[in-house]
Amino acid sequence: MSCLTAVLLLATSAVYATVAPTPEVTLPLNKWYHEYDHPVHTLFKRGAVGDAISYSAVGTPEWATGFPPGVPDTASLPQAWVDALNAAVKAGKIPDTPVSTGSNGMNPVYPTGYDPMSQTVCSSTYKCVIPGDLWNAPAGVVGLSFDDGPQPASPQLYQFLANNSEHATHFFIGTNILEYPDMFTTAFATNHDDIAVHTWTHPYMTTKTNLEVLGELGWTMELIQNSTGGRVPKYWRPPYGDSDTRVRAVAKEVFGLITVIWNQDTDDWSLSEPHPAVSPEEIQQQMTQWLTGPKDTGLIILEHELSDQSVKAFMDAYPLMVSNGWKRISVAQLDASPAYQNSWNSTSQVNPAMVGNPTIQPPTLSDTSTAKPSGTSETG
Ligand SMILES: *[C@@H]1O[C@H](CO)[C@@H](O)[C@H](O)[C@H]1NC(C)=O
Ligand SMILES: *[C@@H]1O[C@H](CO)[C@@H](O)[C@H](O)[C@H]1NC(C)=O
Ligand SMILES: *[C@@H]1O[C@H](CO)[C@@H](O)[C@H](O)[C@H]1NC(C)=O
Repeated sequence: MSCLTAVLLLATSAVYATVAPTPEVTLPLNKWYHEYDHPVHTLFKRGAVGDAISYSAVGTPEWATGFPPGVPDTASLPQAWVDALNAAVKAGKIPDTPVSTGSNGMNPVYPTGYDPMSQTVCSSTYKCVIPGDLWNAPAGVVGLSFDDGPQPASPQLYQFLANNSEHATHFFIGTNILEYPDMFTTAFATNHDDIAVHTWTHPYMTTKTNLEVLGELGWTMELIQNSTGGRVPKYWRPPYGDSDTRVRAVAKEVFGLITVIWNQDTDDWSLSEPHPAVSPEEIQQQMTQWLTGPKDTGLIILEHELSDQSVKAFMDAYPLMVSNGWKRISVAQLDASPAYQNSWNSTSQVNPAMVGNPTIQPPTLSDTSTAKPSGTSETG
C-alpha cells in the first residue's frame, strides 16, 4: 500500500467511522442548488426552457444520435467529465476502494483484506449504510419508485398511477429510454413523474472502474437532461443496490447525485424469470405485513416496471397503502426536497443560470406538504 493510499484510507475511515447508520432521512432539508464550485454546474450547464438552447424532440434521430448504443466506451467520454473525475481524485474525494469482482449473479467480492462491511468499502450490497444515502422514508410515508424502465410493461403502470393521481420516481436505464421514447414521454410529460438515474446499461457498479462508472452515470444524466427541458437528475439507484464508498463518491462528487437504496425488497423482478424467487401470493403476504405493520420508519420498497407481473404486484398492494393511511410520495420528493438539481419538479421552472444563488428559495415545507396527496381522500 502506498503512503498516499494509507492516508486516503485513513481519511475515509475518519469520515465514516463515527457515524452510525440512522433510520432517519438524512438529506439536507430544502436544499435546492449545489454549491457554485460543484462540477455539475459546468458539466450540465444549459439555458432555461424557452431560451436560445434547443433540445431535439424526444424520440427523433437527432435526439438519440450522440449517445452510445451500448456499454459506454471509456476512451470517448466527454473530456470535461474525465477532468472533473481527476480533480475529485486529486482532491482526495474519491476513496481508492478496490474494484470488486462479479461472479455470475452472486454478490460482488473484494480482494482479501477488504471487508465489504468495513468503513473502507461499505458495500450497500452487504447492507452497509453510508450516511447521506437514502434507505428509509419518513414515518408514515411510502416512497414510490420503480426501477428498470421504460419497458413494455410501463404503460399499464403509468395508467394506473395516473388513474389514482399518484406520482412516482422512475429510476430509468439510459439505453431503455433510447428504445422506448414514447413511454419516457408519458412518464415525464403526461404523468409529471420524477425521472432519476439507473445507469446506462445496468451493471454491478462496484465491478466497474472509475471511468466506467463515469460513463454509466454521465450518459444517463445527459440523456435525461436533454429529454426533460434541461433538468439535471439528482438521484440515482445502483442496479442490484450495488454501490460502495468509491462508486457513491464518483456519483456525488462529479455528478452531484444522491444514492438511493431501499429498506424492503419484494424480489418482484424475478416474477418473469423461468424460476421466480417468489410467487405473487408470497409478495402480497410480505406487502401486507409491511403495510399493516408499524409506521415509525417509512417504507421504500424496491419495485420494478420490468414485467406485467412486477407491475401487477404493485397494483395489487396499492389498495392497502391507501386503506392503512400511508402517505404516498415520489421518492425524489421525500423530505419535501426538489426532484432535480435545478428544478423543483417536472412542471416547475428550470434555473440553470441561478445555480448556487442563495436568494432563490424553493417552496417552503408547509406550502409543498399541502400540495401533496395525504391520507386517502384524493384517491377514493
Ligand atoms: C444534449 O443537448 C445539448 C443541447 O441541445 C446538445 O448540445 C448535446 O449535443 C446533446 N447531447 C447529445 C449526446 O446528443
Ligand atoms: C384506468 O382508468 C380507466 C378509466 O376508468 C380504465 O379503463 C383503465 O382500465 C384503468 N387502468 C388501470 C391500469 O388502472
Ligand atoms: C410542482 O411544484 C409546484 C410548486 O413549485 C407544485 O405547485 C406542483 O403541484 C408540483 N407538481 C408536481 C407534478 O409535483
